Amino acid sequence: MSDFPPNLSIRPLTIEDLDQCVQLEEKGFPEEERCSESKLQYRLTVAPELCSGLFIRDFDYKYNFINLPEVAEELSKQHNNVEYDDDEFEDDYPAKSSVTKETLIGQIIATKIPGDKITEESMEIGNHKESSRHIGIHSVVIDPTWRGKNLGPLLLHDYIQKLSNQDLGDQVVIISHKDLVPFYEKIGFNDIGESDCKFANSTWHDLSIDLIAKDE
Ligand SMILES: CC(C)(COP(=O)(O)OP(=O)(O)OC[C@H]1O[C@@H](n2cnc3c(N)ncnc32)[C@H](O)[C@@H]1OP(=O)(O)O)[C@@H](O)C(=O)NCCC(=O)NCCS
Repeated sequence: MSDFPPNLSIRPLTIEDLDQCVQLEEKGFPEEERCSESKLQYRLTVAPELCSGLFIRDFDYKYNFINLPEVAEELSKQHNNVEYDDDEFEDDYPAKSSVTKETLIGQIIATKIPGDKITEESMEIGNHKESSRHIGIHSVVIDPTWRGKNLGPLLLHDYIQKLSNQDLGDQVVIISHKDLVPFYEKIGFNDIGESDCKFANSTWHDLSIDLIAKDE
């Protein structure tokens, strides 16, 4: 497990993550299947609560000093032997967080769609329908460097579980290439069959999963 990414965190994406989302989309999809920057900007603006990011967080190593002085000392040596000044921390503990950087390595981008299936129309700017109970995923991607470590399922399970308990919709739908249908079925999606949607001049399958709150 040593090559498993350290300090993983999952949180809703915001418009401030746009640049990283664009870069990940470019890394993860062939050009014809990629979501444009303007569509990403639209989706992160109108439906940030439906967009989820998997990040690797970097921490300011010096704050290890608070709880892990030996580790801090070791890291200090690695970081050009920066001197430690105990007094620096006495009255100046970080108020909340010592996260210095978040690197996006996975994302789910979605909007509420007008019907119950993904169509090319539902992907267009302006077609997020706030009153809809159908959440349409437009993009699921893991950075190629971090694939093959079950992070896609991790992100999707987290997404479905959180949405289920937030009452944001009744169903999550997606289109997928046939070879990835087993991947989504393992997560709990149902294969509805071949889709009418011919996005990127390709053949797709419709899949859906019902959102059921834990206490129901
Ligand atoms: C699809 C994607 C998100 C998978 O994420 P990942 O974290 O790399 O997933 P993993 O490779 O660790 O696979 C997790 C499980 O799914 C299975 N799986 C992965 N790809 C699969 C495929 N093409 N067909 C069948 N099963 C597959 C794996 O065998 C593994 O199963 P296991 O738990 O039994 O071993 C990632 O490959 C990706 O970003 N691809 C490019 C973008 C894309 O195609 N997105 C989907 C758009 S619909």
